[in-house]
Amino acid sequence: MATSLFRRAVSRVSTARFVLARAHASEAQAQQVEPKARSAATLKTFSIYRWNPDSPSKPELQEYKIDLKECGPMVLDALIKIKNEFDPTLTFRRSCREGICGSCAMNIDGCNGLACLTKIPSAGSNTTITPLPHMFVIKDLVVDMTNFYNQYKSIEPWLKRKTPASVPGKEILQSKKDRAKLDGMYECILCACCSTSCPSYWWNPESYLGPAALLHANRWISDSRDEYTKERLEAINDEFKLYRCHTILNCARACPKGLNPGKQITHIKQLQLTGGK
Ligand code: SF4
Ligand code: F3S
Ligand code: FES
Repeated sequence: MATSLFRRAVSRVSTARFVLARAHASEAQAQQVEPKARSAATLKTFSIYRWNPDSPSKPELQEYKIDLKECGPMVLDALIKIKNEFDPTLTFRRSCREGICGSCAMNIDGCNGLACLTKIPSAGSNTTITPLPHMFVIKDLVVDMTNFYNQYKSIEPWLKRKTPASVPGKEILQSKKDRAKLDGMYECILCACCSTSCPSYWWNPESYLGPAALLHANRWISDSRDEYTKERLEAINDEFKLYRCHTILNCARACPKGLNPGKQITHIKQLQLTGGK
């Protein structure tokens, strides 16, 4: 257990330093994955973060060259091609391949995003792919989401009522106007691109809830059917949980669904001032 924690800590530090480190790919490996039929105009190099907890080697960027003529248009297509045809040990998460599940979040050329929604930058340039920043790395592009999900769980993301239902099992209706108040929040897919782009979250990942969890807190605070608004506001009225947000707004830039968690956090802060009114 201690060894595992130590390795994860080393990996995390290494990830942070990695952006400064020079690409360290071995020429032999790059040659190995180079397609036989070369086409200079469509050949594309990907430098991908590699780290295996079972290997004593430090993290490194490994280069893969693929012909874009033989690959789909998205970064996820390239990753799947590399894994299927060149290197089955390359590890990453993906499921829906259409921006719904949130599992393919990673850092592509310095910006957090979903690999399945990010077009491959033009051939000729080198594209660097690393895990979501400041997260513990489990292997290659897979990060440990435990803390992120626990923070989401902590805001109790479900409808809470004090009034018993008049008829058990009957729907609790909502006007169209009240339903519209949830726009810009219910679309969140919990990919963590926002939280892992937020400097406040980088420095206080255990104590600051981060933009994703706070966006969901506001989603339930704003729900006309929920009767625990006051308690929800009290639970996050905390110097660290809420007020570590300094309106940096990296979160809004990073969100692949076009949401603005910073705006939702500002709404929570306003409600704290007015007592939830
Ligand atoms: Fe992902 Fe956007 Fe939700 Fe953040 S707000 S978790 S970036 S979908
Ligand atoms: Fe971070 Fe977004 Fe606030 S980037 S500081 S959560 S506005
Ligand atoms: Fe589901 Fe990319 S694979 S969001």
